[in-house]
Amino acid sequence: MQRIFLDHNATTPIRTEVREKMLPFLGELFGNPSSAHSFGQEVKVHLDEARQRIADQLGASVNEIIFTSGGTESDNAALKGVALAAGSGHIVTTVIEHPAVMQSASYLAKKGFDVTYVEVDSGGVVDPEDVRRAIRPDTIIVSVMHLNNEVGVIQPIEEISMITREAGVPLHTDAVQSFGKLPTKVDDLGVDLISVAAHKIYGPKGIGVLYVRKGTRIDPLIIGGAQEKRRRSGTENVIGIVGFGEAIRLAEVEREQVFQNLEGLRKRFVDGLVERIPQITINGDPERTFPSTISASVARVEGESLLLSLDMEGIAVSTGSACSSGSLEPSHVLVAMGIDTVLAQGTLRFSMGRGTTGEDVDRVLEVFPPVVERLRAMSPLGAEWSAGVGGPTC
Ligand SMILES: Cc1ncc(COP(=O)(O)O)c(C=O)c1O
Repeated sequence: MQRIFLDHNATTPIRTEVREKMLPFLGELFGNPSSAHSFGQEVKVHLDEARQRIADQLGASVNEIIFTSGGTESDNAALKGVALAAGSGHIVTTVIEHPAVMQSASYLAKKGFDVTYVEVDSGGVVDPEDVRRAIRPDTIIVSVMHLNNEVGVIQPIEEISMITREAGVPLHTDAVQSFGKLPTKVDDLGVDLISVAAHKIYGPKGIGVLYVRKGTRIDPLIIGGAQEKRRRSGTENVIGIVGFGEAIRLAEVEREQVFQNLEGLRKRFVDGLVERIPQITINGDPERTFPSTISASVARVEGESLLLSLDMEGIAVSTGSACSSGSLEPSHVLVAMGIDTVLAQGTLRFSMGRGTTGEDVDRVLEVFPPVVERLRAMSPLGAEWSAGVGGPTC
């Protein structure tokens, strides 16, 4: 059976060109880039080259690039690092952030920092004026994600940054989903800190970057050696860094063409779903949604069952829910958008990538409607669900 991967927001396969670039670092190029001898220095050249590429992509200086272990670490380092340097104060973030930001903020709240979570509208968009109202004289950082991983909504970072600049507060954005897919020049966005990761753009897992604008007050989370100019100690993940540099170079070359292709695929996909499946809702402000992501809420079925049924057909997607400690929690993003919790539990996320084809979309459109019909017919909770009560257990 031919498998179709529609979970590119979770991760992407490493591109052949990226893998080839990485291979010598599993063999002869093994030196430690901090070593002064030739083994170290021949590796450092490649590390510097990758750093330059990532800096260029962000419109930043190489001195503002800190390599991390990925998006999660970059988010933690941004929020906790600024908080550590400030000692006390107030943090502004939003209700739709990735858990790496949400939980860093709630951790800091437990440590005595005040946190304000800005709401979103029903399309999943933050109103910059709400950010303005949330900022206080003691605000130390504002963190608003660029592109949401669950519904694909792009936030108005440029407008938010005009407000944070006026207030003199550093702005962090989690650009893990947008880097290499949307323009992310730091001066155009107006941000002071950016989190990015390689594995969302056909690079390796376990490597990311935190960009920190020169002059931003931030303490390191990881100390020890003097790597990354003492801002993130530990021998560099050279193989990951080299792969990241190549992944972003290739992503930028084809960025616009991939975007156009995704736009066409999205239209075909969404039109097909709405035409063939009664009681389906596509989530997210259509004017602000990046075309790769389709978040669809299907009434009277449970997301996990849909996911498993599609998986049996070779189609990989994800749900809008997180299953934890025996109960099926609806997605905090969908709930924040005002979507009914039962409907939120019947939500699937299809996330397309550079390799997704029209045939892939047509296959899903062929397989998915009968799956929904079958599960709706089987659901013992069908009647209660349509009445809006009851719900699935995990
Ligand atoms: C928006 C966003 N931020 C952060 C992360 C975490 O990145 P990583 O998997 O590299 O730790 C992800 C990954 O899913 C993400 O989508």
